[in-house]
Amino acid sequence: MMRRTRHPSSQGRPSAPVRLYGRRVVLRPLAPSDFAAWSEVRRRNEDWLLPWEPQRHPGHADPARDRSAFAARCTARDRDRNAAASYAFGMFVGERGERLAGEVNLNNIVRGAMQAGTIGYWIDRELAGQGYTAEAVAVVTRFAFEQLHLHRLEVCIVPRNDNSRRVMDKLAFRCEGLAERFLEIAGVWEDHLRYAITLEEWNARRTELVRAWMHAPEPADDG
Ligand SMILES: CC(C)(COP(=O)(O)OP(=O)(O)OC[C@H]1O[C@@H](n2cnc3c(N)ncnc32)[C@H](O)[C@@H]1OP(=O)(O)O)[C@@H](O)C(=O)NCCC(=O)NCCS
Repeated sequence: MMRRTRHPSSQGRPSAPVRLYGRRVVLRPLAPSDFAAWSEVRRRNEDWLLPWEPQRHPGHADPARDRSAFAARCTARDRDRNAAASYAFGMFVGERGERLAGEVNLNNIVRGAMQAGTIGYWIDRELAGQGYTAEAVAVVTRFAFEQLHLHRLEVCIVPRNDNSRRVMDKLAFRCEGLAERFLEIAGVWEDHLRYAITLEEWNARRTELVRAWMHAPEPADDG
């Protein structure tokens, strides 16, 4: 049966910096004042992170080492957020959300008939293994479906990245299969497993996911 859907492209595009909360993580856009913390975490984790990221262009300043390059990165992300093209968040943990743990980003937002976005993430190795990333992805998923009114989210993972696949297992995102030579990672066109969740799945699983990863369960909006 064909299902009609609202076309939400004109709805819900928060342009002000957004702050989102899970049970333990706080997500907010990074600002130039985060340079010292971001630089320290990124530099300490290079061996842990760089094998899973696109190669940095040799002609570009490294934002982990160059304060103005980091500020420019923040500005570019502010611009993308204001254009509703992507939403990048620093992931913070600790009693008062004071420790920068990593990042979770909602990128490549496409409207029109697709209404989709791609989630990417990383975490400080010192804080790995505590389920923080799954929590942050759950929070961004709720934001994407309930505030941005997207219809589909995806996460793309190199098959040998077992740690990242565990995040998808924990959230039970659906694996749609392998896209060959899909993204450039550390200089190589790598195959990626494409994991997805659609709005219909979110609506069916909302109570379970909110209860597992966010504060208190909230009543589902049946309207
Ligand atoms: C993928 C990643 C974000 C997962 O974050 P996380 O918050 O540690 O996720 P989880 O707590 O759910 O742990 C996932 C798995 O990592 C493994 N793991 C946990 N701590 C670890 C550590 N210190 N060192 C190595 N592996 C570890 C465990 O197998 C764990 O699964 P388990 O909980 O069933 O034991 C993190 O491993 C990371 O930043 N990796 C490098 C960058 C990257 O791969 N980004 C994603 C690209 S798609």
